[in-house]
Amino acid sequence: MRMAKAAAASSSLVWFLSVAALIHTRTVLSSTASSRCYSAIYSFGDSIADTGNLYYDTEDISPSTYLVLNPPYGDTFFHFPTGRFSDGRLIIDFLAEQIGVPLLKPYLGIKKGKIKDWNSLEGVNFAVGGATALDMSFFAEKGLYDVLVPTNYSLGVQFDWFMDLLPSICNSSSGCKQVFGSSLFLVGEIGGNDFNYLFYLGRPIEEATTYVPLVINKISWAINELINLGAVTLMVPGSIPLGCNPAYLTLLASPNKEEYDKAGCLKWLNKFYGQHNELLQIELDRLRVLYPHVNIIYADYFNAALRFYRSPQQFGFCRDFIKVCCGGGGPYNFNETAVCGEAGAIACDDPSEYIYWDGYHFTEAAYRWMAKALFHGPYTFPKFSFSCITPETSADFNNHLMI
Ligand SMILES: *[C@@H]1O[C@H](CO)[C@@H](O)[C@H](O)[C@H]1NC(C)=O
Ligand SMILES: *[C@@H]1O[C@H](CO)[C@@H](O)[C@H](O)[C@H]1NC(C)=O
Ligand SMILES: *[C@@H]1O[C@H](CO)[C@@H](O)[C@H](O)[C@H]1NC(C)=O
Repeated sequence: MRMAKAAAASSSLVWFLSVAALIHTRTVLSSTASSRCYSAIYSFGDSIADTGNLYYDTEDISPSTYLVLNPPYGDTFFHFPTGRFSDGRLIIDFLAEQIGVPLLKPYLGIKKGKIKDWNSLEGVNFAVGGATALDMSFFAEKGLYDVLVPTNYSLGVQFDWFMDLLPSICNSSSGCKQVFGSSLFLVGEIGGNDFNYLFYLGRPIEEATTYVPLVINKISWAINELINLGAVTLMVPGSIPLGCNPAYLTLLASPNKEEYDKAGCLKWLNKFYGQHNELLQIELDRLRVLYPHVNIIYADYFNAALRFYRSPQQFGFCRDFIKVCCGGGGPYNFNETAVCGEAGAIACDDPSEYIYWDGYHFTEAAYRWMAKALFHGPYTFPKFSFSCITPETSADFNNHLMI
């Protein structure tokens, strides 16, 4: 579909488009400098957007179980672990900075009384590392829950949390419509884990394929529910190209060179997630027809990240870009017995030279490039609107990004 085609254009063209978009943005900004169209972000998803939910859920448990609670997670930006699965900020943090709202507070920190300075009108994050789109009961029925799925905080559970918090956000249907009219809802990335767990178990791709429509239905359900509550701007990201994921490349390594593309990614796996994203976009098209007054934006995380592999130098990634920054040895510097956060793993000197932070998640540098591509480039459809960016935050953002 269109996003895939747009991104298939040569990277120099993409670069040109992004720069052109930036220049254009600046012109637009000067005329709408004071408007701030989003007052809040409400976010649902997995570790790609978790800003501390798993952290607050598991802080009492031994850190060796939940490595994201250990240094060097967070070292680059926060200088201590925050529960973000990276060395620094995530796409959602850059989004919050751009929009001019505080970095999103994790719901479980609020619920446990650990976060005092929260204002639900500024947005809340429900995303949890390891979360699936499908409910735990689905995996339990298949006998997969105990062996496999580390959390039962599925998209449905996250939506229930949102409903629990609703009275602190708005009290009447018209009140909610007003608040949500100026809120941005980030629904995803979610669903990647539903398949990840199967692939890690070595299950056949055919089984994963049967889950795809179920996962998309669940995402669609959440979008419907949110729209019925008054949401008018929703951003729905697709999967990242997990065929380039160093953990997968290690665990699913093949002696057959034909299975790899030029950058060294597993072709069949990227094809699978790419097809999932195509079907997700078809569902979003269907919803756009159903709800013409709602802005449903597809965020093309897949192609925004794939550029890193096509022209790593352009983003400042090193020659070892296929390796993990924080790892414990092996061809991809991903070692299951010494993963990031454990004593046997050490972080590289400069994480901004790497795409992947640990075996599964990007570095802050990669997330920053993705955020730039999404909010100033051609990787959102329809294009993300800039008219709400405050001049301070956008200047700060651009300064960082233009380096
Ligand atoms: C999730 O699992 C925990 C512990 O296994 C359990 O206490 C909790 O009730 C479960 N939550 C849901 C929504 O099923
Ligand atoms: C909703 O009503 C409750 C109880 O009257 C009140 O405590 C709360 O502040 C109200 N919330 C909003 C967003 O107005
Ligand atoms: C993986 O980590 C273990 C434990 O630290 C270590 O003994 C082993 O040599 C490492 N493997 C590689 C390939 O570096």
